[in-house]
Amino acid sequence: MHANALLAALLAPAAVSAQLNDLAVRAGLKYFGTALREGAINSDAAYAAILKNKSEFGQLVPENGQKWDATEASRGTFTYTQGDITANVAKSTGQGLRCHTMVWYSQLPNWVSGGSWTRATLTSVIETHMANVMGHYLGQCYAWDVANEAVADDGSWRDSIFYRTFGTDFLPISFSAAKKVDPNTKLYYNDYNLEYNGAKTNRAVELVQIVQSAGAPIDGVGFQGHLIVGSTPSRSSLATVLKRFTALGVEVAYTELDIRHSSLPASSAAQVTQGNDFASVVGSCLDVAGCVGVTVWSFTDKYSWIPETFSGQGDALIYDKNFNKKAAWTSISSVLAAKATTTPPPATTLITSVVTTSTSTTTPAPVTSSSSSSSSKPTSSAPPTTALAAHWGQCGGNGWTGPTVCESPWTCKFSNAWYSQCL
Ligand code: G3I
Repeated sequence: MHANALLAALLAPAAVSAQLNDLAVRAGLKYFGTALREGAINSDAAYAAILKNKSEFGQLVPENGQKWDATEASRGTFTYTQGDITANVAKSTGQGLRCHTMVWYSQLPNWVSGGSWTRATLTSVIETHMANVMGHYLGQCYAWDVANEAVADDGSWRDSIFYRTFGTDFLPISFSAAKKVDPNTKLYYNDYNLEYNGAKTNRAVELVQIVQSAGAPIDGVGFQGHLIVGSTPSRSSLATVLKRFTALGVEVAYTELDIRHSSLPASSAAQVTQGNDFASVVGSCLDVAGCVGVTVWSFTDKYSWIPETFSGQGDALIYDKNFNKKAAWTSISSVLAAKATTTPPPATTLITSVVTTSTSTTTPAPVTSSSSSSSSKPTSSAPPTTALAAHWGQCGGNGWTGPTVCESPWTCKFSNAWYSQCL
C-alpha cells in the first residue's frame, strides 16, 4: 500500500462499536463484565447468547460457584462443578475471569463458622482452602476477592468466625496466604456501601492500611455497587471516594453493580433516573486513573438476587426480563462512547508522529491496541479545543462543553441526553 494511503487508513477513526466491553476498552478500562448465574447458563439460550458475547461482556464472575459453601462444603472435600461452569465459559469464549470469593462470613459452611478454632488451626483451614480452590483456578483469574465484606454497615468490624478468632489479623494472614498460592492474580478486598464515603468507607481505608502495614500484599478494592435509584451519589462524589483508595496505591473497580428501584413497577421517570445513576457510576470509573473496570451483578432483570432479599424491589439491571436493552444500557453505552470518542486511541498518537517527522515509505511503527494497563488509561477527558467537532466526535450531551457543530460534511446527530455524535 502507498504510504499516504496507509497513513490515511490508520488515521481514520474507527467507528465506535455499540457493545459495552468494546466501548469500555476503547474508553481506557480493562473490561466491562457481568456475573454469571450458574443455574441459567445451560437452560436459557437467550441469556447465554448475550452473556457469551465478548464485545458486550469482556469478563465473567461466578455468582455463587466459587464460594466456600460451593467448593468445600465438607472439610477437605473440594468440588468445582459450579465454579467451573463460569471458568469453562470464559475459556471457550476468551472472556476474562474475575474470581469470587475467599474469606467471607456468608455462604460459609457450618463446619467453618461453627468450629472451635485457634489461630493456628483456622490459619491452616484458610491456607488449605486457598491452596486448593485458588490452585484449581491458577492462571485463570484476573483478580480474586480475597476478603469480602469484613466491615459492618455502621463501620465497625463485622462479627465473623474470622474476626472473633484473629481480630483484624485475619486480613493480612489471608492476603499473604493468597499471594503464596497465586502470585500473579490481583488480590482484592471487596465490599458494598463504600460508595457513600461514610463510616464504612473510613473503615475500609483503614483495612487497606492494616494489610499494607503488616507487609501483606493487596492490589485492589472492589466497590460492589449495590445501589438504589435516586440515591446513587453523583459522578464526582463517586470519583472522590474511589480516589481515597487509589491514593493508597491500590486499583479499584465496580464489582457487583446493580441499581434497584425501591418500588415496582418503575415509572418511565424512574427508569431515566436509573439510567443517569448508571452513567454516574460508570463515568466515575472513567474519571479515576486507577479504576480498571465495571462488572454488573447479572445483566438481566430476569436473574437477580434482589427480589429475594428486598421484597417488592428490583429491576436493577441493564436488560429487562425479556432481554431488551433498558435506558440504563443506553446511558452506559453513551458515557463510554463519549470517553472513547474524545480519547485518541494510541494508534493516532503513533501515526501523528510519523506524519510530522517522516516522509519516507518505511512502515510505521506497529499499531498498538487500546492498552489494558491502568497506568496508560487517559486521565483527562477534556473535549477537543477546535471550534468544530470531527467525524465520529461528540457534539453534544449532558455536561458536554466541547464543540457542538461538526466539520463538513458531517452533522450532529442526537443519540440521547448524554451523547450526540458527528455522523
Ligand atoms: O444452593 C442452594 C440450592 O441448593 C437450593 O435449592 C436453593 C433454594 O433456594 O438455594 C440455593 O442457594 C442459593 C444460593 O444463592 C445459590 O444459588 C441461596 O438460596 C441464595 O440465597 C443465594 O443467594 C446469593 C447470595 O449472594 C448469598 O449471599 C445470590 O445468588 C448472590 O447473587 C449473592 O451475591 C452476593 C455476593 O456474593 C457478595 N456481595 C453481595 C451479593 C448480593 O447479596
